[in-house]
Amino acid sequence: MRVTVIGTGYVGTVTGACLAYLGHRVTCVDTDPAKIEKLRLGEPPIYEPGLEELIAAAAERGGIDFETDLAAPVRESDVVFIAVGTPPLPSGEANLAYLESAARGIGAAMDGSRFRVIVNKSTVPVGSGNLVETLVREGVQESHPDISDAVAFGVASNPEFLREGSAIHDSLYPDRIVVGAEDSSTVEIMRELYRPLMEQNFSDPSFAPRPEAMQPVAMVATTITSAEMIKYSANAFLALKIGFANEIANICERVGADVTEVMTGIGLDRRIGSGFLNAGIGWGGSCFGKDISSLLHTAAEYGYHARILEASLAVNKIQRGVVIQKLQEKLYILKGRTVALLGLAFKPNTDDLRDAPSLQIAEKLIQMGVRVRAYDPVAMSACREQHPDLRICYCDDALSAAEHADALVLVTEWPEFAGLNLKQLAGRMNNAVLIDGRNLFQPETAREAGFNYTGIGKATQRSNGNGWQNAKAAAALDGK
Ligand SMILES: NC(=O)c1ccc[n+]([C@@H]2O[C@H](COP(=O)([O-])OP(=O)(O)OC[C@H]3O[C@@H](n4cnc5c(N)ncnc54)[C@H](O)[C@@H]3O)[C@@H](O)[C@H]2O)c1
Repeated sequence: MRVTVIGTGYVGTVTGACLAYLGHRVTCVDTDPAKIEKLRLGEPPIYEPGLEELIAAAAERGGIDFETDLAAPVRESDVVFIAVGTPPLPSGEANLAYLESAARGIGAAMDGSRFRVIVNKSTVPVGSGNLVETLVREGVQESHPDISDAVAFGVASNPEFLREGSAIHDSLYPDRIVVGAEDSSTVEIMRELYRPLMEQNFSDPSFAPRPEAMQPVAMVATTITSAEMIKYSANAFLALKIGFANEIANICERVGADVTEVMTGIGLDRRIGSGFLNAGIGWGGSCFGKDISSLLHTAAEYGYHARILEASLAVNKIQRGVVIQKLQEKLYILKGRTVALLGLAFKPNTDDLRDAPSLQIAEKLIQMGVRVRAYDPVAMSACREQHPDLRICYCDDALSAAEHADALVLVTEWPEFAGLNLKQLAGRMNNAVLIDGRNLFQPETAREAGFNYTGIGKATQRSNGNGWQNAKAAAALDGK
């Protein structure tokens, strides 16, 4: 099929490359000429393992090209994906300006030569399917009112569930494909588009091998509104699971239990499942916070106060403050100290810094008079570029970051950090304090290497407090 994907960010680039790999002819469009320039040279605009190889393979298979203007590709396409950003407004509501501009542009470009499906892949609030239909129709009427009745199209909601860092694997071997649509022609076209994925009959790329237990993939066909709700509910639930593990971790610290043992114990219950139960310093990234806020906003618009969602955001905010609190417990005075951060990206295998805990921690420490050093395997140039005012001393590796530091904070659990020589690391520091924000290291190993070690929700760091920690952690970040 002929496909256009609008937006070449984390979702659009991966979606376009995967569809071309499956044999479709794809054009990816972005308004950012720098991104398109890079993509034309075969360089992904983001760090995502395997993406460069996938783009090369996609070019050989279905074919993929990159444009800044959507008009010509849209006219030639059977399916047009909208994968633009939907960042949060200060009110928590999703900013639909990019989506609206893309939808109008699609309308203006369409003609009556074929039936097209316009697919919302961006995460958008309930009702956005309707909005897109209206905007496309308005775009058609404004640009060529004479033929507007002859322009036929369907709208689908096809939420994306990929995880940055394993986006290619998730896109080629999904758990399910959700398609919301109101008419059968649209559903059929989407079924045709995704048939190779559903049947899993494509040859798997060497850089993303098919899992042995892979089964055919089900398409869940729903109404547009249900599909929109599925995406928000999935993210809200995943964030809730992490938040739950963090809340239990905070209780574990007080009662003398170990959260890793507790989560293993409950995760083996099939009704609960073991995924997303790792306690740490809180989730980040471009999706969870924005999507929960957007769902809260939608609920409020319909007169419902979504208390669990609200609590989920609050628990995460408290968790971000835990690092500062633990540093204060270990070092007492922070002013004038040097703290080294291992990891800046919001999670491993990505350079994405959106809502990354590292930024909030670094900002707060700097504000408190701390010298901050940092090392991240891929996200340092993005951090320098996107946060030029953040006075971080960027280091070449973990060892240089630890040099003369008073404490080391493991912020992102990059696999390479698991293999660090802890003894050598501790030997470089003024004070061998290690705050393991992701419970990456074995406490005993870290202690044997000479570290004064603290993880999250671990018995040995039993507090002497009486419930003041949570309030103190939240206040630490609020600057109260
Ligand atoms: N990043 C993820 O892990 C992820 C996962 C699932 C769903 N989503 C959702 O997918 C959507 C896209 O997310 P992302 O992380 O890829 O965003 P992104 O910010 O990385 O990319 C969006 C791209 O859209 C481009 N753009 C904006 N307006 C445009 C227009 N009118 N025409 C053409 N291009 C335009 C921007 O230049 C940018 O390159 C969001 O709604 C997000 O919530 C993201």
